[in-house]
Amino acid sequence: MSNIVIRKAHKQDFDTVVRLTCELQDYLRRFDRRYKSGRAFRPTARKNVRKNFSSRHSRILVVEHSGRVVGFCLGQVRKGFDVYLHDYIGFLYDAYLEPGFRKQGLMGQMLRQQFAWMQKRKVRYVELYVDPLNPVGMGAWVKYGFRPLMIRMRKDLKK
Ligand SMILES: CC(C)(COP(=O)(O)OP(=O)(O)OC[C@H]1O[C@@H](n2cnc3c(N)ncnc32)[C@H](O)[C@@H]1OP(=O)(O)O)[C@@H](O)C(=O)NCCC(=O)NCCS
Repeated sequence: MSNIVIRKAHKQDFDTVVRLTCELQDYLRRFDRRYKSGRAFRPTARKNVRKNFSSRHSRILVVEHSGRVVGFCLGQVRKGFDVYLHDYIGFLYDAYLEPGFRKQGLMGQMLRQQFAWMQKRKVRYVELYVDPLNPVGMGAWVKYGFRPLMIRMRKDLKK
């Protein structure tokens, strides 16, 4: 696709990244109604995005199409889980592309840049959360080499 630029998010992208974070929330809610709606999540999204914009341990990349931001990916270098040997890991928090921009390898381009940044910071392993009810997310992460590490489970005490 032409007219595509992948770049670091600027301060002016703040509202767009918040909006896309809320869209991701609504997208996930289609698979599981226990997710908060994008609207209910908005204050948390604003707080998280603000924190990540100002942290040197986080990196937000955006996809711009003809001057309009249509997707983003939030990466971070953080402390790993204590039970594993590597103290610091890369973590991908949110990744979202508007529907018309999926399945064209754009996430692959963002990931290459996130991984390069993480490797410069001596990270070897990159982790993320994905909902197994989300087939698109599951397909994408497996395609990019991610494999299950630790499975979080939930029991409903009303059942
Ligand atoms: C997941 C997402 C970020 C991947 O970005 P992308 O640029 O579409 O990724 P790619 O084009 O490299 O596609 C990677 C894989 O994603 C899956 N995928 C992407 N779009 C899909 C769609 N519309 N239907 C089914 N699978 C899809 C496929 O497994 C695809 O692999 P393939 O090309 O070999 O079929 C993007 O599709 C998206 O925003 N999805 C909705 C939100 C989401 O699920 N985010 C991840 C939360 S953990």
